[in-house]
Amino acid sequence: MTDRGSAWWRGAAIYQVYVRSFADGNGDGTGDLTGLRQHLPHIAGLGVDAIWLCPWYPSPMADSGYDVSDYRDIEPAFGTLAEAEKFIEEAHSLGLKVIIDIVPNHCSDRHRWFLDAVAAGPGSPQREMFWFRPASPEPPNDWQSRFGGSAWSRVPDGEWYLHLYAPEQPDLNWENPVVHQEFREVLRFWFDRGVDGFRIDVADGLVKDPALPDVNGRSPEDNGSAQLPFSDLDGVHEIYREWRQIADSYPEPRVFVGEMWLPDQERFARYLRPDELHSAFNFDFLSCPLEADKLRAVIDSTLAAHALVGAPATWVLSNHDTTRHVTRYGRADTSFSFADRQQGAPTDLELGTRRARAAALLSMSLPGGVYIYQGEELGLPEVEDLPDEVRQDPVFSRTNGADPGRDGCRVPLPWGGSAAPYDFGGDETWLPQPAGWERYTVAAEAADEGSMLRLYQQALRLRRALPSLGDGPLTWLPSAEGVLAFARDDHFTCVVNLSGAAVALPEHTEILLASGPLDEGSLPSDTAVWLAR
Ligand code: NOJ
Repeated sequence: MTDRGSAWWRGAAIYQVYVRSFADGNGDGTGDLTGLRQHLPHIAGLGVDAIWLCPWYPSPMADSGYDVSDYRDIEPAFGTLAEAEKFIEEAHSLGLKVIIDIVPNHCSDRHRWFLDAVAAGPGSPQREMFWFRPASPEPPNDWQSRFGGSAWSRVPDGEWYLHLYAPEQPDLNWENPVVHQEFREVLRFWFDRGVDGFRIDVADGLVKDPALPDVNGRSPEDNGSAQLPFSDLDGVHEIYREWRQIADSYPEPRVFVGEMWLPDQERFARYLRPDELHSAFNFDFLSCPLEADKLRAVIDSTLAAHALVGAPATWVLSNHDTTRHVTRYGRADTSFSFADRQQGAPTDLELGTRRARAAALLSMSLPGGVYIYQGEELGLPEVEDLPDEVRQDPVFSRTNGADPGRDGCRVPLPWGGSAAPYDFGGDETWLPQPAGWERYTVAAEAADEGSMLRLYQQALRLRRALPSLGDGPLTWLPSAEGVLAFARDDHFTCVVNLSGAAVALPEHTEILLASGPLDEGSLPSDTAVWLAR
């Protein structure tokens, strides 16, 4: 059962806001804090417990805000620090907690730290903030950027610096105590302003093997591969122990959620030991095909790994890096992988939407917390046909278009009206919205009983009201092949039918909510139902 008090985070429903694409308050086509504040009632009205905001710091936007040039201020295109403080206050007054992103693996090449390091020259203490290596004809090792190409670039004097992402995102050197000190202060800066927690970007990546050995072609995606010298090194846990002490020094609970894409669940759970992070995103669930046996295996292994450390699981279907799940679920292969986004694969959006509705009820009734990525409550599909010239994601340019990148899930939200910009604000949005989105607007869906929005509102409100949901145990119930059926306690059952044929409903006293029409007491395929028993 969700504890609504000090352990609110154990069963929270958390709404992810991608500020740039949420709502535009000043008419320049880019989302901002004014727009977010105006539309806070939409988020509160969903029935979620918290908001997680993607980075809102000053940034040249080489990676849409994940290249931070000042950790103690707000991106001018989004607003001001004073406005951020107002936003935190307003969210709190609506009963919403606020989690912000922190990006400790790298900063922007426009950050004062990097500018000073370049200016100070080889051998300087300023260069010790980063991973600089002497000028040589070849890069210091064979590491590849996760956005394509070498992970090393040169500064004008010829020295190399490491960037596991874009060249505009130099990796910070966590061997240096000054880096530790700076981030401790950044955490306090925002905790003192009332934020309730941080989502930690690339949480597994901060510590590198200082010998910088070659990886000989191994990549983080190689399942079960031996340890990589830039991911999941044991030293990273010391950082989170340090951070946890800071969080725990505040009277009201302050929490951390880690972003780690790790192949090994047991190693993943180590981040969630009682003196480290509170929770982490469940990407195994996000990546899993929508098939009953595979889902059940992921649910079981997730719960078992989290039980080892007493941490609550989380359930995630989409975020700002992955293909929107309405689109994924409309394809023959419903899995997600960075290695192949299946751009242009035949997609049945009607089927994808039906399945997304079922997946929503599944994810919201599993034990622990749940994340909702802005726009999924509207059933937005991935925008796959963005013209090349408007694409902004460095993944697209650094792979010469081989990977379409992540712009397709970052298109500004449609709020109302019948044509772009669908009341987002401005005339031209920073990424163009497609024709045909009038049916997905918040206004249109609010007026339509059968919409995704209405389903999310009903489900989240029930989730909040029912003591069976949120944190707590799960018991599998006997079910036909292709069907997931589980009880959360003596009073609640969820059944998800992915079998391809209708199945009879198990014993119940009341149908609480169904993701689609039921067929004379039976549950059609690609449909989920919540039952009281
Ligand atoms: C993960 C973030 O979610 C993604 O958007 C970003 O590009 C990388 N980390 C690098 O910061």
